[in-house]
Order: sequence, then C-alpha cells, then structure tokens
Amino acid sequence: MLKKLILENWKSFRYAELPLDPLTVLIGTNASGKSNVVEALVFLQRIARGENVEAALAGDKTLTSIRGGLEWAALKPETQFTLNALVQGEDDKADYLYVIQTQIVSEVKVIEEYIERQNLNEDHTIKYVENFTVKKIDLNTKSGMKEAGTYFDFKDIVSNHIYLSTDEDGRLIFEKELQKRYFPLKIKAINCVVSTLKEILILNPIPSKMREYSRLSDTLESDASNIAGVLAALSEEHKTEVESTLSNYIKDFPEGDIQKLWAEKVGRFGTDAMLYCQEEWKPGHITEIDAKTMSDGTLRFIAILTALLTRPEGSQLVIEEIDNGLHPSRAELLVRTLREIGSKRKIDILLTTHNPALLDALGPEIVPFVVVAHRDSETGESKLTLLEDIENLPLLLASGTLGRLATKGAIEKSLSDNK
Ligand SMILES: Nc1ncnc2c1ncn2[C@@H]1O[C@H](COP(=O)(O)OP(=O)(O)OP(=O)(O)O)[C@@H](O)[C@H]1O
Ligand SMILES: [Mg+2]
Repeated sequence: MLKKLILENWKSFRYAELPLDPLTVLIGTNASGKSNVVEALVFLQRIARGENVEAALAGDKTLTSIRGGLEWAALKPETQFTLNALVQGEDDKADYLYVIQTQIVSEVKVIEEYIERQNLNEDHTIKYVENFTVKKIDLNTKSGMKEAGTYFDFKDIVSNHIYLSTDEDGRLIFEKELQKRYFPLKIKAINCVVSTLKEILILNPIPSKMREYSRLSDTLESDASNIAGVLAALSEEHKTEVESTLSNYIKDFPEGDIQKLWAEKVGRFGTDAMLYCQEEWKPGHITEIDAKTMSDGTLRFIAILTALLTRPEGSQLVIEEIDNGLHPSRAELLVRTLREIGSKRKIDILLTTHNPALLDALGPEIVPFVVVAHRDSETGESKLTLLEDIENLPLLLASGTLGRLATKGAIEKSLSDNK
C-alpha cells in the first residue's frame, strides 16, 4: 500500500508531502495543484509498468501526455524533479521509499533511482549486515525501471557495491555468499514497490466511451470504457457476486429504481460485451435498457463501483473530481459506497473534489484525512497542508461545516493569512 507521496520540484510544487490513508480527500481552489499531484501518481504508475521516462511524461502512441509534457514537468525554471513514494512493506519490519530523480534539459534522463529500506522498529534485531546490504537498493537503470518482471539486470545493482561484511560470529562473509543471502530481501523490496505502484488506478470515467461495446478484459481502463468487458470477463461465481453488489448500491442512485445491473457477452464469438440494466420508473413496469441509454451520472457511479469491486485488494484508487455529474442528494450514497466497499476490499482511495455536499457527507471524521492544496501568495508555488494543521481550524469549523467553509473559500484564506 502507498503511505505517502513526496513531490520535489514537480510541476507547481517546490516541496510537498501527501499522506495517503484508506480515504484521503484533496481539496483546493482552481489551479491550486490538485491535478498536478494526481499526475505525479500517473507518472509513477507508468514508470513501474516499464515505460521509459520520456513516454511516461510526454506520452506516445498509446499513452496520453501528462499535461504540458516534458516542458512543464519540473517546476519552472528548474530542470530536475524528484518523486518519492513511501510503500508499506509486506510485513511489519520495514517500509520502502522509492525515489526517482529526473533531469530534463536537452534530453530527459533519470539521474537517480533507488529504493531505500526504512526500518520500522528500531528495537527489532535486524542484523547489521542485513541493514547494510538492503538499506539502499540502487536501481541504476538511468531510464526508469524496465519491462515488467525484469526491471533491471540484477548484476547492475550488485556490481556497483562491495558487499564485504561480517556475520554475527564475526566471520567474514564473502560477497557472493552475502548476495545469495540477502538477494531475496532485495527482490522482495523491489516487488513490493513495483506491484504497489503498478496497481495505482487513476479513474476518470468518460460516460460517452462507456456506452460502446467493449472487449473482454481483466483490467479496468482509466476512462472506464471497457467496464462491460471487465464485468463480462469475470468467472461465473465472481460475476454473480460483483453484479449483485453493484445492483444493490446502484438501486437508489437514480430517481427511479434500477432493479438489476449486469454485463453480457455479445456477438457471434462473445469477445465483446455490453452493460444492461432493468429500470422501474412506474411500479410494476420494468424496462430493460443498455449502456447507450444510461445517464452520465449513473454510468460514472457504476464505473466507481466497478473499480472498487474489481481492483486488486490493497491497491490505490484515485478519483479526480469525484463529484462530476453527481446530484448533491446522492453525496451520502457515494460516501457510504466508498467507505463500505473501500474498507471491505482494502482499496485505498484518494479523491479530489470541489463539492460542498460531498464534503459535508464525509462528516467530521474525515477532517484528519483532508489535505488542502493552495498557492503560496509570495512564491506562487503550490503547497499541501493537512486540514488538521491549520491553526484556527476549531474556530473555522465552529463557524460552519467543511462544505460551507469550502464554498466561502475560508480554508484557503486562513492558509494565506497564517503566513
Ligand atoms: N512546471 C510548472 N511550473 C509552475 N507551475 C506549473 C507547472 N506546471 C503546472 N503549473 C501550474 O499548475 C496550475 C494547474 O494546477 P492543477 O491543474 O493541478 O490545478 P487543480 O487544483 O487541479 O485545479 P482545478 O480544480 O481547476 O482542476 C497552473 O496554474 C499551472 O500554472
Ligand atoms: Mg484539476
């Protein structure tokens, strides 16, 4: 799981930290830097999937460009940026900090890329030698991690280091022996980081694309265009379970009832699929419709539900402007859905929103997990502040709910006044 993202000289940020919890909400006025934060996650995900840095930033035949491409990746007028991602280890012994520093001058290149092991419990008797050899894993690829599964040549890493040390009895351990012993720890660290970053999904559902027939697939596209294909490709048992949960949550979403929602394989070879639902607008009167006629808001909600139900457990889901197309009266349902399925399936969710109704529906318990983006009034740089760290927060909250404060711009005002 991702625990924290640190941006250095990335887009509008000089330095910022974003803690990531099971549900994290990023707010801030227009152009405060919210999408810039999300794009840092896009970049990391692409690198972990084996894209080279240039394609990850500027796009290629299959990838869209990160806004502004190479030219706007680093904070103007800097020519380097560093992204750090703190990833939770698989046991409670250590976390891993993945660091990638990139330079963009005449060409774009990775200057440094490594994983640093961060021991969680100082008292834990991790042997000195283990600490020493596994502390910093230099990925040393200069072009970003490579193809999935073979991220780099292991010889590359070890050849740059001299691994001579002593074991617990003071005997000299030879390099080879040491490598053999601690190699699995390195592989574990790399796998943990790569699989966590690879599985980040930035969901930006585009209803018009969701209305088309889609190919069967086991991974949901970022624009949710293949939603029907993902549902239809599930095993019979899993499909029944997912569709029944989907139908339960979607039931109360539109004005009339949606009785049932499902995907079906279509065509002679059954390689494509379409989404269907049964609507009941008049009591006892059931109409079957397909995705081509479903409303934009309904499709977006279905996309969010499907992501929550089909993404791998423990993965990070990012939803930009989650309120897009959402009627204020449905904010409670959306929040309940996110919390219930998110915690059941251990999906960590990062949201950006402008919607006062949604902020209110999240309730006071969300306060420790709200991060505010704003532009520093002197430098113009973006900053991230935990809502809880705003000095006069109790006073602010006494004067209105989070939604009301956001509407008045009171939080951002307080941030610039506090300077
Ligand atoms: N390399 C860069 N250096 C300095 N500023 C940058 C850089 N790249 C982007 N910006 C600034 O970031 C701002 C856009 O930020 P972003 O799109 O993250 O805002 P947002 O909070 O998502 O806003 P909205 O709510 O409108 O979507 C622009 O004003 C742009 O000037
Ligand atoms: Mg934005």
